[in-house]
Amino acid sequence: MAKRVVLAYSGGLDTSVAVTWLQEELGLEVVAVAVDVGQGGDFEVIRQRALGAGAVESIVIDARAEMANDYVAPAIAANARYEGKYPLVSALSRPVIVRHLVAEARRHGADAVAHGCTGKGNDQVRFEVGTRALAPDLEIFAPARTWGMSRDDCVDYAAAHGIPIEATKEKMYSIDENLWGRAIECGAIEDPWAPPPADVYALTRPVHHTPRDIVIGFEEGLPVSVDGKVLPLQDLIADLGALVGGYAWGRLDMVENRRVGIKSREIYECPAALALIMAHSDLEDITLERDLAHEKARLEPRWAELVYDGLWFSPLKEALDAFFASTQRSVTGEVRLSLAPGTCAVSGRRSPLSLYDHGLATYDSSDTFEHADAEGFVRLWGLGVATWAARQGGPS
Ligand code: ARG
Repeated sequence: MAKRVVLAYSGGLDTSVAVTWLQEELGLEVVAVAVDVGQGGDFEVIRQRALGAGAVESIVIDARAEMANDYVAPAIAANARYEGKYPLVSALSRPVIVRHLVAEARRHGADAVAHGCTGKGNDQVRFEVGTRALAPDLEIFAPARTWGMSRDDCVDYAAAHGIPIEATKEKMYSIDENLWGRAIECGAIEDPWAPPPADVYALTRPVHHTPRDIVIGFEEGLPVSVDGKVLPLQDLIADLGALVGGYAWGRLDMVENRRVGIKSREIYECPAALALIMAHSDLEDITLERDLAHEKARLEPRWAELVYDGLWFSPLKEALDAFFASTQRSVTGEVRLSLAPGTCAVSGRRSPLSLYDHGLATYDSSDTFEHADAEGFVRLWGLGVATWAARQGGPS
């Protein structure tokens, strides 16, 4: 009996060629699994395309709610932005896909999984490390890393084998999209000095011109409403992204450090992600006690790095999730965002659990702060340096 492999199928050129190649070259039966993480597109067309390329089965899984609730929600709790900027768009979708690949491999009695990533990116790392965490017994094939075909070769291979693709030989960009945003690589933007051409943008084109405010409601760290309208997270992200993106806000242009050692120029469009993380972290400013806030801020970049590096399923990431979850109990309240062409900024925050005490903060006559306490506090706070100055002469 032929060995079976479950392939993470996108419907694009590489994974379509991979369906045929895995059969022809390695003699494997291919089960194609397309996971809907909010990338858009017609999944029935995608499903049929895999069958057209020779898959023995072709499956589509709607994982949008799962991606939002189990992957994006913890990323919001962690204010996750790799290298302080990138909100992990692609990095968050890979573990979702891996979970389904492994589940389908079990269901179909497969011996292996496969993905269409090249050897230069982070996504191969995420697919493979994730698979090894969930199913160390499964073999992993990465045909696009081994077949040695250029894009042109792949188009020719598809034509020769009657694989139904839409791709042509000229391809402008490499794009990965899901409900958390859109990542653009390659083509004209490979020159880090070149300004991004206008055609790279799809989610952040200017359509709104009148400024407006919106209020995001949070419950225990989770965004639950926009202007009082309660929405499931995946819908809230979609609505907010369309609105904020329509103000041409939510773009990133950065050079990032890939796990495999390459610096890479990337353009991202992630209006909802950037707006929600900004609002969430602002709400934490009034709801988290100082030491907790500072320690959390130290751990956030670590969480983002682990997820970027393909360690979603890892003990440190699990432990950090538990810490962040515990911090979120008080993160309930509302944040107002003010939108105008090209901008989105926080203009107010409030919470029933706010630690902001007007009586303590104010300089007017309603002041409740004990001024006399400050003198002794400051004297003791500086006692060490005062002693150092008196006995050892202070600064050199
Ligand atoms: N550099 C980003 C990451 O590693 C995005 C990669 C997305 N892939 C693409 N083909 N554009 O998470």
